[in-house]
Amino acid sequence: KLEAVIFDLDGVITDTAHLHFQAWRQVACEIGIEIDETFNNTLKGISRGESLRRILHFGGCEAAFTQPQRDALASRKNGIYVDSLSQLTAQSILPGIHELLLELRERQIPTGLASVSLNAPTILNMLGIAELFTFCADAGRITHSKPDPEIFLAACDGLGVSAQRCIGIEDAQAGIDAINACGMHSIGIGAGLQHAGLRLTSTDQLTWPCLSAFWQHAQ
Ligand code: BG6
Ligand code: MG
Repeated sequence: KLEAVIFDLDGVITDTAHLHFQAWRQVACEIGIEIDETFNNTLKGISRGESLRRILHFGGCEAAFTQPQRDALASRKNGIYVDSLSQLTAQSILPGIHELLLELRERQIPTGLASVSLNAPTILNMLGIAELFTFCADAGRITHSKPDPEIFLAACDGLGVSAQRCIGIEDAQAGIDAINACGMHSIGIGAGLQHAGLRLTSTDQLTWPCLSAFWQHAQ
């Protein structure tokens, strides 16, 4: 039996992946580093501090920034990002997600959130769907970003389910790798994802019949 469905947040529930990109692009630009969407794909699912480290590395200037300077850059990025979140409303939930959450609740299938974003609780509240999640893993307690499975295992733990009996949904390669690493069944949303158990092009394909067929097939 399917015990739970565990969701990534940014890029699966709402399109904050793009807002993260815009904020990083601005901060990177201010220190003379230009990043594009392709590079940004390698930041998806990666914590704030590690994302900055990758940007500095990409710009060839990792050694030039002290930890206090990095902390300042990371908090500047978060300030820009949090400001941009004021645009979020229930309309910002990606197609099909709200319907799926309601259907899972009706079927009494627990739902989990596995986001490494410290802003996740705020975002779920702004979208008005916080109460549709049975358990949200606390990003503040996580020591390893995706592709480490830690955040997904924390979600399973909080839900009291075994990873092998769950479906995980992700838009990032690091996230698919994290789901697969803990033995969960992975669904990838979007282009260019490898090793997903099922790959969909958009969240509107994420319906209960689709999930249930995927689950039956995986057994
Ligand atoms: C992930 C995003 O969900 O959260 C990453 O995919 C982001 O892009 C990470 O860096 C951390 O988010 P925050 O909100 O804590 O800076
Ligand atoms: Mg994501």
